[in-house]
Amino acid sequence: PEQCVVAVDGPSGSGKSTVSRRLAATLDGVYLDTGAMYRAVTWAVLQAGVDLTDPEAIAKIALETELTIGTDPDAPHFAANGTNVDAPIRGPEVTGAVSAVAAVPAVRKHLVTLQQTIIAAHKRIIVEGRDIASVVAPDADLKVYLTASAAARAARRSAEDATDVAATEADLARRDKLDSSRTADPLRQASDAIEVDTTGMGIDDVVAHLLELLNSKV
Ligand code: C5P
Repeated sequence: PEQCVVAVDGPSGSGKSTVSRRLAATLDGVYLDTGAMYRAVTWAVLQAGVDLTDPEAIAKIALETELTIGTDPDAPHFAANGTNVDAPIRGPEVTGAVSAVAAVPAVRKHLVTLQQTIIAAHKRIIVEGRDIASVVAPDADLKVYLTASAAARAARRSAEDATDVAATEADLARRDKLDSSRTADPLRQASDAIEVDTTGMGIDDVVAHLLELLNSKV
């Protein structure tokens, strides 16, 4: 397609990132990792030593943080206040705190506006997150909701970062619960999103399936 916005939502470890990056590269488009935006803000909040139970203090840091948002599907580099954060935003401190930061309404409002500006500036863009179809890009050409069994999601994540499968499964369950139960834009499947269960599917199969869906829409 000449122009398209694809929204890819779903819980942690459902394959969103790998699939979205591959799809963006295949379409010669860009890739927006909104989870990395919440993670980069969380990194800045932790750096500032702010109390994680103080939403106003968190929001203040979020609004002050200058984000550099990489959208190249082959190398989506992120920086916060000029410091590259590609490694620390995947670390346990940020992963442990990100759901609390992402639950602050003012943080979401700020990042959603940024996301919408980035989407408007590109012709073909694949956007992954939790609330893309429902909040960020309700007019997306294709909305997919990726799922996979808890065991499959944990197995993928622990293969990526070489952590213990049981601990990973517990952490994914913890974040899914926080992300689905918060009041501000919780994780949920949009009514018009197409659910794709990737349990037992290879990455090539998922990407091919999404390309078929997209071609049937645009
Ligand atoms: O996708 P990823 O696991 O990197 O996202 C990290 C966290 O950021 C999620 O657990 C969730 O709390 C938050 N998030 C969000 N809305 C998005 C993307 C991510 O609340 N659109």
